[in-house]
Amino acid sequence: MYYETKEFTLKDGRTAVLCNPTEEHAQGLLDYLKQISEETEFVLRYPEEVNYTLEGEKRLIESMKESPYDAFLTVTVDGKVAGNCHLMLQSGLKTRHRGSVAIALTKEYWGLGIGTVLFGELIRIAQEKPEVNQLELEVIEGNDRAIALYKKMGFTEYGVRPNAIVLKDGRVLSEIMMLRPV
Ligand SMILES: CC(C)(COP(=O)(O)OP(=O)(O)OC[C@H]1O[C@@H](n2cnc3c(N)ncnc32)[C@H](O)[C@@H]1OP(=O)(O)O)[C@@H](O)C(=O)NCCC(=O)NCCS
Repeated sequence: MYYETKEFTLKDGRTAVLCNPTEEHAQGLLDYLKQISEETEFVLRYPEEVNYTLEGEKRLIESMKESPYDAFLTVTVDGKVAGNCHLMLQSGLKTRHRGSVAIALTKEYWGLGIGTVLFGELIRIAQEKPEVNQLELEVIEGNDRAIALYKKMGFTEYGVRPNAIVLKDGRVLSEIMMLRPV
């Protein structure tokens, strides 16, 4: 989905740029994926599972731009990839009223208001689609910062999936399911 590039100001005064990624972001996005999987256990992959190729990432970027069902947005600060967010709309006749959202930032950019701006944009994009009336997401238990962001942006909990995540140290975590009417 096409997104018109926007700039916004972080809580520390720096300027962030939110855009559709291009080929030039491909390596930065791969580095970012590896980094978030090292920095937090609240994403779905361990670092050794992040094995995408540069060519594959470029193809993904292109396909996301063409897709009417995906808003795939990258945020950069001082030219560096700080995070990414994704709105995935369903395409089936029975489910096209639903979309799901995902977001992750590298640690140095947490707590600067980026999540609030990105989620605001994803919600606005969904609101522009007349057929969409519900956004959904899943969050791993204990991810208090993400849960606070989602509640702030109007999401409420509707269920818990037990036994969703097993960490290397043996801990078993649930996923909390949240939704927001659009
Ligand atoms: C979760 C995440 C996207 C939040 O984005 P962010 O830019 O850090 O969030 P914001 O700065 O916009 O803060 C949003 C709200 O979170 C809450 N918050 C901030 N710091 C917090 C903390 N340390 N603990 C709990 N809540 C906190 C506040 O309510 C804040 O709203 P406010 O600024 O109006 O007070 C980001 O921290 C992240 O990428 N984490 C790692 C990956 C991840 O967990 N992704 C989500 C997977 S479901």
